[in-house]
Amino acid sequence: MSNSTNDSTSIIKRYAVIFVLMAGFVLAFLYAAGLFGGRGVTAQQFVNLQENEKPNASFRRAHAKGVCLQGEFVASGLLAPFTTAEFFQKGNYPFIGRFSIGGGNPTAPDLASGVRSLALSFTSDSGQRWRTAMNTPTVMAVRTPEVFFQQIKLLTPDPKTGKRDETKIKAFFAAHPEMAEFNQWKEDYVASSSFATEKYHSINAFYLVNNNGERQAVRWAMAPQAEPQPLDENISDSHPDALQIELAQRLENDVVRFDMLVTLANDSDDENNPTVAWPEERTVINAGTVVIRAVEPQQGSACNGINFDPLVLPKGMEATADPILNARSAVYAESYRRRARESFQQQADSQKTGQQKAGAQ
Ligand code: HEM
Repeated sequence: MSNSTNDSTSIIKRYAVIFVLMAGFVLAFLYAAGLFGGRGVTAQQFVNLQENEKPNASFRRAHAKGVCLQGEFVASGLLAPFTTAEFFQKGNYPFIGRFSIGGGNPTAPDLASGVRSLALSFTSDSGQRWRTAMNTPTVMAVRTPEVFFQQIKLLTPDPKTGKRDETKIKAFFAAHPEMAEFNQWKEDYVASSSFATEKYHSINAFYLVNNNGERQAVRWAMAPQAEPQPLDENISDSHPDALQIELAQRLENDVVRFDMLVTLANDSDDENNPTVAWPEERTVINAGTVVIRAVEPQQGSACNGINFDPLVLPKGMEATADPILNARSAVYAESYRRRARESFQQQADSQKTGQQKAGAQ
């Protein structure tokens, strides 16, 4: 082969490498923009729907009302044979957390929401991170982000008329028998008087990966050590911040503790379907105790700047292919981008007003 043929082959190869790299960048950009947030539904469409034409500037677009927490996880070490994750080796690991209620209204009455939540964020000295956001229901109502989008759309009142189409809602329920377990949970659920006495579920499954590279599908739940009290005994439902007040009072006397109960899947359990709970006889391991020591208002506190993206996992933990789990990441990022931009704008505006006032004096 002549030198000139060699030259043109190597130029073609170089262009091919550049093309592949550029295509990779474009795909990564589209992913970050949420276009692959859930085939057919973008992260932007999800967040627009959650805002329902009334965005609450600088607040989360879901679970908008909450409080920040500080505490530590005292790992029992019992999960160590299943995972190399640092946070599950015997020891103490500090976290920043958040209790919240479902919904996009940051001033909603605490007791009006049917869902309560606990989110935790861990960072280790070696740079490992783990974030988990859990809810009180044991399962999701539906199996895919597209159907979940349709569900929220039907259940959200029309922003213009304030009404919902009850006939369409009935037809949707009839067309989705997979909602049965969630509806049963809703019927059986009895709200307690405290964030500290609810059980919070990962709902989606994850893999633990051990030293030998073996993967075990798991789900987890934070089970309260304190006895649940019925709502009306301890707490007045007339106060919009009833749960936040109760928690602050409780923490004046003692810490709040939860056991982290990790359920191991069998081969017959589908880790990619969050609408079905796994049978009760599955092995459950107590991975340790979540100890909550302090609570702070969310605005201006550390948890506000955290995106509790469930795909932020340490080495030794991996995501399953569950489409709901994978859609969550892009949607949380979109909500986070919007609220971070608004907070930044609000700060810049108030600085400008302060400077103008100082200049006028
Ligand atoms: C496709 C399904 C889902 C969508 C579209 C969705 C959407 C969202 C959005 C937009 C946020 C606000 C994120 C932020 O600005 O930081 C959020 C927060 C949250 N989500 Fe979801 N979510 C989904 C499923 C779930 C599931 C299955 C769970 C529970 C296992 C869950 C638990 C939470 C919790 C606890 C928070 C609040 C975290 C915090 O305290 O900051 N979500 N969700």
